[in-house]
Parts: sequence; structure tokens; C-alpha cells
Amino acid sequence: MSLYKRSGWMSPLMYLIASFGIATVLGVGTYLINSGKMTAGSFASFVTSLLLLYKPVKTLGNTLTGIQNIFVAMGRVFELFDLKPEITDCGNPIELKGLNNKIEFKNVNFEYIENHPVLKDLNLTVAKNETLAVVGNSGGGKSTLVN
Ligand SMILES: Nc1ncnc2c1ncn2[C@@H]1O[C@H](COP(=O)(O)OP(=O)(O)OP(=O)(O)O)[C@@H](O)[C@H]1O
Ligand SMILES: [Mg+2]
Repeated sequence: MSLYKRSGWMSPLMYLIASFGIATVLGVGTYLINSGKMTAGSFASFVTSLLLLYKPVKTLGNTLTGIQNIFVAMGRVFELFDLKPEITDCGNPIELKGLNNKIEFKNVNFEYIENHPVLKDLNLTVAKNETLAVVGNSGGGKSTLVN
């Protein structure tokens, strides 16, 4: 949206300027030829070179639009750089010390209420610096495992 807002006026403006330019050139040219200050031949070659100029100028306009495009994209990238992670440390985080190798669960059983097991015969190994995702239905025991 931002890109279109910034570059949308480019094309109509170019056409407007070109239209006024052609009208002015034709008007002045006619006057110069009529008053004998310019020959019809040199006016024709002037108009031809002017038309040849149109394409490069339009390309320049497109290039400017491309540059705008880059600025919009850069803005998005810097927005991402400035993002603050939603997950932050609590006020006084406790550093986990003494973990040198891994956390290993071997045949772990756990229950809050007698005869209502939550974790049954659980085996799990998490190496140091490894990230583990625990996925499961609600009440499956994920929070219990982490706690
Ligand atoms: N303090 C508690 N006392 C008794 N039962 C509990 C307690 N905490 C959890 N439970 C029971 O243990 C089971 C596992 O709960 P837990 O909170 O570990 O699941 P969870 O996988 O984290 O679920 P969720 O996806 O909803 O967070 C559930 O049946 C829950 O009712
Ligand atoms: Mg949970």
C-alpha cells in the first residue's frame, strides 16, 4: 500500500508533463516557423529528438519507482530488526548452573492424585543446548513434564 501511495502518482505525472511539453513545443514551433525564425525541417528534427528523449525519461521514472520499492522493503526489514521478542526473562531470572551434558528421564512415573498416573514410564533425553518441542493434547502432561 505504501509503495503504491508513493509511486502511483509517477505515471500520471509523467503523462501530464509530456502532454504539456508536446503542446508547448508545437505551439512555439508553429510560431517560430510562421515568423521565419526556424525552418520546418529543423523543427521536425527537434520534435523527433524530443520523442526519442521520452523513453529514457520514462525509464528514469521506472528506476525511481524501483528505488522507492527498495526503501519500502528496507523499511519492512528494519521493522523486523526492531521487533522485541514476546518471550522475555522474568524480573530476576535464575541461571541454570551445573548442567554440563544432558537431562535424562528414565522410566519416570508421576501422579498428583493416587492411582491417577499422569506420566507413565517416560523416557526422554535432552542434550545441553538442544531445543525440544513437546506436543500433545490438553491435559496430556506437558506442563507436568517441564515442571
Ligand atoms: N496440581 C495438580 N493437581 C492434580 N492434578 C493435576 C495438577 N496439575 C495437573 N494435573 C493433571 O495432570 C494432567 C496433566 O496436566 P498438565 O497440566 O501437565 O497437562 P498439559 O499437557 O500441560 O495440558 P495443557 O496443554 O492444557 O497445558 C491433567 O489431567 C491435569 O488435570
Ligand atoms: Mg500446560
